[in-house]
Amino acid sequence: MADIDSVLNKLLDEARSADEPAAVLKSPELKALYKQIGSIDPTERADYGRRLNDAKTELERVVAERLAEMTDESVATIDITAPFDKNSGRPDLLPTDQGSIHPLMQEVEKVSDIFGRMGFQIEQSRELDDQFHMFESLNFPKDHPARDDYDTFMTKEADANGEALIAPAHTSTMQYRTLKKYKHKLENGEPIAAIVPDRVFRNEDVDARHEHTFYQVEGIYVSRGVNAGMLIATLQKFLEEYYGKKLEVRVNPFYFPFTEPSFEFALSCPFCGGQNTDCKVCSGEGWIELLGCGMIHPNVLKHADIDPNEYTGFAFGCGIDRLVMMKYGIEDVRHFHSGKLDFLKQF
Ligand code: PHE
Repeated sequence: MADIDSVLNKLLDEARSADEPAAVLKSPELKALYKQIGSIDPTERADYGRRLNDAKTELERVVAERLAEMTDESVATIDITAPFDKNSGRPDLLPTDQGSIHPLMQEVEKVSDIFGRMGFQIEQSRELDDQFHMFESLNFPKDHPARDDYDTFMTKEADANGEALIAPAHTSTMQYRTLKKYKHKLENGEPIAAIVPDRVFRNEDVDARHEHTFYQVEGIYVSRGVNAGMLIATLQKFLEEYYGKKLEVRVNPFYFPFTEPSFEFALSCPFCGGQNTDCKVCSGEGWIELLGCGMIHPNVLKHADIDPNEYTGFAFGCGIDRLVMMKYGIEDVRHFHSGKLDFLKQF
């Protein structure tokens, strides 16, 4: 009958030098020790079982030690800080190219940085919201036809109010929350100044200029005596920083339920400045309609418990994909989500 101690010593020795130390845990010698439990005198069986379990624990500990030691040995031979040499093709390093931050994310950073320096705080939107934040809080009456302008994706399930949830179709869904969150600033004599750069979703027919998922940056500014001139100056300053050049801007009247007056804001083509009748970016018009904006509607302020007789504010919503496409002359918005490495590597 095999003796526990002699088997253990032999297996420990093996484990300490083996290339596959875990194999000793499945060795026939160890199995035999377990098999013979049945033939042990019943009065000694409990003691035998305990000793055998202790032996196995000891063996497992040594196996683990050996595995750790082997990992150390192999790590020591790879210098992970050494640059990969494509020509010599060093076998110990993977021939991967370095990844990079997605161009849209890089630009979201730049946009946030410019507004950050202008004193705007940065807020996040969400991927799913309710009808109150998408419509009611923004002064869209129930059943108002303007709700249809947004081609919203809705869930089949209803929320606690019995209404479908919505994948936000614009970052304006965050206006109510942002006004509420920073309302106390007004009482301290400070302005509310925040931007929301985040993802929005629309049930669009996808083509070179339209995506179902894209980025917007919402801007919200409220204080005493805010006027439309400040809105236009803020946007112009932002765009000149972003494109790194002087730009002309143009403002046309428009309609949004949550701003009054509302504007459509255009800038002189940063590519051709209106000088090239064949320009692909502005189609030779010299102007690019870039964003919607306006003075925050008194009803929106009232909803958030801000007195519109005391405070006024402006808001804007600008498509970031558009901004980036114009900056780099990207002709198709679908490139952003295509996962095409040839496209992504350029940034
Ligand atoms: N949310 C509007 C849109 O996506 C843009 C906008 C934002 C207009 C803020 C006015 C004020 O079309």
